[in-house]
Amino acid sequence: MKEAIAMKPVRIAVLPVAGFGTRVLPATKTIPKEMLPVVDQPALQYVVDEAVEAGIEHFVFVTGRQKSAIEDYFDSAYELEDSLQRKGKSDILNAMKAKQPREGSMSFVRQQAAKGLGHAVWCARDIVGNEPFAVLLPDVLVQAKQSCLSQMMDVYHKVGGNVIAVDAVAVDQVSNYGVIKPKAGSDYKNQKLIEMDGMVEKPAFADAPSNLKITGRYILQPELMGLLKDQEAGAGGEIQLTDAMARLMADQTFHALAYDGQDYDCGSKIGYLEAVVAFAMSHPEIGAEAQALLKRMAK
Ligand code: G1P
Repeated sequence: MKEAIAMKPVRIAVLPVAGFGTRVLPATKTIPKEMLPVVDQPALQYVVDEAVEAGIEHFVFVTGRQKSAIEDYFDSAYELEDSLQRKGKSDILNAMKAKQPREGSMSFVRQQAAKGLGHAVWCARDIVGNEPFAVLLPDVLVQAKQSCLSQMMDVYHKVGGNVIAVDAVAVDQVSNYGVIKPKAGSDYKNQKLIEMDGMVEKPAFADAPSNLKITGRYILQPELMGLLKDQEAGAGGEIQLTDAMARLMADQTFHALAYDGQDYDCGSKIGYLEAVVAFAMSHPEIGAEAQALLKRMAK
């Protein structure tokens, strides 16, 4: 019997940002991949904005060596602010300050060894404590009218438990992702909210239980941390978040949400380019110009 869980609000988000960004080297040799610009802000800012729209109040960044630019980015920049003020560039200054997080609303913990996503999330356990929490993988940007995590929160407020975002992918892509197993007999291809029977990390094409990939947005209950503590290495020799979630399913409910929106994998060259183009085309200031430019270039 799965436990009915008292529905506590989700205030904390964990963002694992320790990865090397090997797929976009050498760009990421000295710049954290999360700080690569997408039009006029770092990729990471889009993810933080998504979470803020969903009501997240505290961010835990799981960082590693060479990632201090992230911490500096979210701090105030006194000399820069003073210089903008003196030059009368108050619109730029205000836009920048509007993005500055509340003091004390961000924590930074280190993942000391690259043991996998599950291990990275576990590194945030002391700060997460006994509360449900969100996980957002910053490689993935989601463009949506209502932010992806905010759509998931709406679902969470109805069904509680654990909620993960999923997306249909081409069947030959399934072994690059975590893939969910929808409830037997369910009409999951036509449903937004999907009941689940299981999930598996990077299955072989022949063993994939569906073509629904786990997108990189999660609402999880704190009991997961206890399972991550002794989670054995899985796919790729890494401690996988998916494997611990699959174990938690024995006790708690999981729902998958086929959200409205488009995801971009900024960890790959082409996904990053796609994100830059998509966000440029819908940018309030340069959107129309960017669209005209792309039309010209496509000729
Ligand atoms: C991670 C997760 C995987 C998920 C993917 C989304 O994999 O382990 O379940 O589908 O992110 O991008 P990674 O891309 O780190 O190999």
